[in-house]
Amino acid sequence: ADQNFDYDVLVIGAGPGGYVAAIRAAQLGLRVACAESRETLGGTCLNVGCIPSKALLHGSELFDEAAHGTMAKFGIKAEKVSLDLGAMQDEKATAVKELTGGIEFLFKKNKVDWLKGHAVFKDAHTVDVAGKDYRAKNVVIATGSSVTPLPGVEVDNDKGLIVDSTGALALGKVPDHMVVIGGGVIGLELGSVWRRLGAKVTVVEFLDQLLPGMDGDVRKEAARIFKKQGMELRLSTKVTGASVKGRKVTLTLEPAKGGDAEKLEADCVLVSIGRRPNTEGLGLHNIDLETNQRGQIETDHEFRTKVHHVWAIGDVIPGPMLAHKAEDEGIAVAENIAGQTGIVNHAVIPSVVYTWPEFAGVGLSEEAAKEAGHEVRVGKFPMMANSRAKTNREPEGFVKVIADAKTDRVLGVWCIASVAGTMIAQAAQAMEFGATSEDIAYTCHAHPTHAEALKEAAMAVTGKPIHI
Ligand code: FAD
Ligand code: NAI
Repeated sequence: ADQNFDYDVLVIGAGPGGYVAAIRAAQLGLRVACAESRETLGGTCLNVGCIPSKALLHGSELFDEAAHGTMAKFGIKAEKVSLDLGAMQDEKATAVKELTGGIEFLFKKNKVDWLKGHAVFKDAHTVDVAGKDYRAKNVVIATGSSVTPLPGVEVDNDKGLIVDSTGALALGKVPDHMVVIGGGVIGLELGSVWRRLGAKVTVVEFLDQLLPGMDGDVRKEAARIFKKQGMELRLSTKVTGASVKGRKVTLTLEPAKGGDAEKLEADCVLVSIGRRPNTEGLGLHNIDLETNQRGQIETDHEFRTKVHHVWAIGDVIPGPMLAHKAEDEGIAVAENIAGQTGIVNHAVIPSVVYTWPEFAGVGLSEEAAKEAGHEVRVGKFPMMANSRAKTNREPEGFVKVIADAKTDRVLGVWCIASVAGTMIAQAAQAMEFGATSEDIAYTCHAHPTHAEALKEAAMAVTGKPIHI
C-alpha cells in the first residue's frame, strides 16, 4: 500500500455499483473506504428501489391472488380476504432493514471503512466527507441517480398527493384514483401494486406505446395486458400542469402533438418520467471533470474517466439504469484498479419489469436489430401452448427469439410470462456464449417448465416447434 494515501480506493456512493466495487477491491487486498450520505447502505436499490418495490409487488400479488386470482379454480376458498396495508408496509421495511444491514455486515467482514456523509472532491486524490479530508490513490464515482422532476407537477412525498417512486412506496392508504405520469418501468410496477390493492389506475404516457426500449411486439402486448387488468391507458398524451385543492389533484392533459386540453382528477399522482445522474454538489469542477449533454459522466470501457485515477460506474454513467449493470461494473472497476482485466459486456444486459406477468428482454429488439443492418429470422412461441403455464392457468405472454438470418446467432430474446425474469437468465447466458438459435433448440429443457417455451421459440426460428 502507498503510504501517501489513506486508502487505495475511495468509492463515493454505496449503491449496488459502489458497495460491490468496495467489497471486490477489499477482496483483492486493497485498502478501501466507501462514502455514503444516506443513513443506511445499499443506495437507491435497497432503500427506495428494487427491494421495497419487489416487497410490495409480492405482497400485492398475494393479495390479488387470494382476492381475485385463480385459487378458487383450484378449490381454495379464501372468503372475506382483507388488506392490512400497515402490515404489508412493515414487512417491506423489514426486508429493507435486513438487506441494508447485510451490506453493513459485509463491509465489516471485508474491512471496508464506511465514511458517513456527503463526499465532495477537493482535488483528484482528496475527498472531503463531512468536513474531513481523505486522500485516496483511486476514487470511484458511484453516486447513482435520482428522479427527473416534471415542471409544473411538484412532488411532495410527505403529503402523499403528488409523489415520486419513494413516496409511492410509502403510501399509508390505498388511493381511490392514482394517475401515473410515465408508462415506463416504475409507472407500471408501482401502478400495478396500487391497482391490485384496490386503486383505479390511469397511466398517462407521452409516447404511443408503453415501455420504450423494449421490443415492439412486447410493447403492444403490454398495452393489451395492462388494459385487460383494468388499468386505463392514455397514450400519446402529456401532462402540462397540476393544481392541488384539499386532498385532490387536478391535472391538465393535452395530446402529445398539441390540441385541446382536458382535466383529470386524482387522489394521488405518481411522477415516473425517468431518472437523472447525481453529479450536483460533488465538486466535479475541482477536478475539471465535465458531464455530457445528458448529465452523465463518460468513461472508457475500463470505467476510467478523463481524470487520471478517477473512475465511474452505475447509473451516473451511460447505459441502462439497472442494479445488475451497476454491480457488474463495480466488480470490473475494482479488478481494473487492482491491475486485472475487468470487463462488462454491455450488449448482454437483461432487463425485467416485475409486474404480472413479467416482461423481460436481453439483447436487441427486432426493430433495433433491423436498424443495425441485420437480416433477422424470428421465432415466437405463445405461453398458451406451454404445458406448465397452461396448467398453472397463466395463459398470457410469449417468448420471441431474434436470430441473424445468415449466421443464426441469437441477437435478442424477449419474453412475457409469469417467470420471465428468471427465464431471461438462460437467454443471457446463451448469448454470452455466442449461441445460435439451433444451440438453444437442441438444448434439453426439463419438462414441464416455462423455460421450454424458450426452446420452442428457438425451434420456431427455423420453423419447427412441436406444440403449435
Ligand atoms: P444508487 O443505488 O443510486 O446509489 C448511489 C448512492 O450514492 C446513494 O445511496 C446516494 O445516497 C449516494 N451518494 C450520491 N452522491 C453522494 C455523495 N456526494 N456523497 C456520498 N454519497 C453519495 N434496478 C434493477 O435492476 N431492478 C429493479 O427491480 C429495480 N427497481 C427499481 C425500483 C425503483 C422504484 C427505482 C427508483 C429504481 C429501481 N431500479 C431497479 C434501479 C436501481 O435502483 C439502480 O439502477 C441502482 O440503484 C443504481 O445503482 P448505483 O450504485 O449506480 O446508484
Ligand atoms: P422510464 O424511462 O422507464 O419511463 C419513463 C416513461 O415516461 C417513458 O415511457 C417516457 O416516454 C415517459 N415520459 C417522459 N416524459 C413524460 C411526460 N412529460 N409525460 C408523460 N410521459 C412521459 O423511467 P422510470 O419508470 O421513471 O424509471 C427510471 C429508471 O429506473 C429506469 O431507467 C429503469 O431502468 C429503473 N428501474 C428499473 C426497474 C426494473 O429493472 N424492474 C424498476 C424501476 C426502475
